[in-house]
Amino acid sequence: MARPGAVLLLLLATASAAGRYRRLHPVSLHGPAVKTFSATSAVSCGLRCEAHTPQQCSGFIYAPDDGTCRLFSGDCRGPAVVSSQQTTEHYMARSVPSEPAVGRCGCPAGFHRCAGRCLRQLDLAVNHTTAESQCAALGAHLAVPRSDEENQCAAAAAATAGTKAVWTGLIELPAMEGVYTGADGCGAVPVQGRWASLQPDDGGPGVAEDRVLIMSTGTVHAAGWHDNPAGARWQPLCQLALGYRPGCP
Ligand SMILES: *[C@@H]1O[C@H](CO)[C@@H](O)[C@H](O)[C@H]1NC(C)=O
Repeated sequence: MARPGAVLLLLLATASAAGRYRRLHPVSLHGPAVKTFSATSAVSCGLRCEAHTPQQCSGFIYAPDDGTCRLFSGDCRGPAVVSSQQTTEHYMARSVPSEPAVGRCGCPAGFHRCAGRCLRQLDLAVNHTTAESQCAALGAHLAVPRSDEENQCAAAAAATAGTKAVWTGLIELPAMEGVYTGADGCGAVPVQGRWASLQPDDGGPGVAEDRVLIMSTGTVHAAGWHDNPAGARWQPLCQLALGYRPGCP
């Protein structure tokens, strides 16, 4: 008869073999823990996480010293995250359930991998509100390029779009001119060096241009980021919220 400790160890081995969690650090945790428990092991902490949906609990930190089990939603993985939210604790990130079916570097049908993200550009030019809901219907959000590589992926998508431009998930904060937050839920987006020449121009008096599109080369407009009103129509570039794989091309 195995002792409970041995059973837990076996569970832990099984859990990691199945790739249900992977240790990630540094990772940027958006917001405080959604729940804090007392747990006897990392495994029981992981089981607590699994009692929630992947959206509610995307990972946990277990502190063996005092048995604190903290569950988080919204881990922000990838380069150029907000440094104040970065943790070097042993964060265990929950894997995406669909992962085994598509392989480590694969993406769900219709999406392609670029700079570790799963992206999908939609065919019809629509306003920003519709673009957001079309991405949401695919379990995604409008793309938020945070690193140079991610920005190159978005620019490449724009180059193949009929309109030579794609909507991003950047929104200027109403009370903070020049500060843009991302639809990925990972806070302010670095914008320096991204704007096309003479952008952002805020569209002149009476026009609120608080959304951002990426214009490729080969149009009459300057290539780079442009601010536009939410009612403008461009092709959405969707990005999956989960399944970031930095090692994948
Ligand atoms: C976007 O388009 C939808 C559908 O045509 C419309 O209902 C909505 O008011 C539009 N939103 C903006 C901001 O233009």
